[in-house]
Amino acid sequence: AAILPEAAPLLDWYDRHRRVLPFRTSDGRAEPYRVWLSEIMLQQTTVAAVGPRFERFLARFPDIAALAAAPEAAVMEEWAGLGYYARARNLHACARQVVALGGFPRNAEGLRALPGIGAYTAAAIAAIAFGEPVVPVDGNVERVVARLAAEEMPLPAIKPRLAALAAGFMADPAARARPGDFAQALFDLGATICTPRSPACALCPWRGGCAAQRAGIQAMLPRKSPK
Ligand code: ADE
Repeated sequence: AAILPEAAPLLDWYDRHRRVLPFRTSDGRAEPYRVWLSEIMLQQTTVAAVGPRFERFLARFPDIAALAAAPEAAVMEEWAGLGYYARARNLHACARQVVALGGFPRNAEGLRALPGIGAYTAAAIAAIAFGEPVVPVDGNVERVVARLAAEEMPLPAIKPRLAALAAGFMADPAARARPGDFAQALFDLGATICTPRSPACALCPWRGGCAAQRAGIQAMLPRKSPK
């Protein structure tokens, strides 16, 4: 069985190098409304493009009650240019459900039942906003884990295996203590170090603990089945 590295070096790296992003608070506090809104925007929009739009959206709809009370047309108008407009419709429907519920469900399972929230987004919100010890797995996290474990089986067949490996990080008390930071550290590692084409292994907090890097095959992973 693959041994994944410890969480501590990644969290230390995140403490030193975390990206300053508009949707991240410096005090580590995470307001569910802001976390949810940013994760929906980030589903199909880049971090760079989300920043200014996130601030503008918040200025217009400062909290979930304001968003729920707004006409759908106002939400669609504010979303203009971000694309994937089903996100805006679901956002509005979700706001109304959350207000009716009296607040966001506080775990991934409950969040998953809301409009526009899939398994990945539910886990991201649960970890970042509520500290649930879950690991959101998107393509970036799959790439990082496939390399750490030097998993040679191709996508998409390897997906369940990678998800199980990623979930295993939460057995580490250091990761369990900071699930939201751990998730965002994985996102940042995938975006800045463990990139698809030429990963910057010399700068990686997990160099030495990465089976693909030891074997020199990191840039070849994850493999993909021909379509
Ligand atoms: N991509 C999706 N969610 C993110 C987050 N919270 N930080 C950075 N990149 C992300």
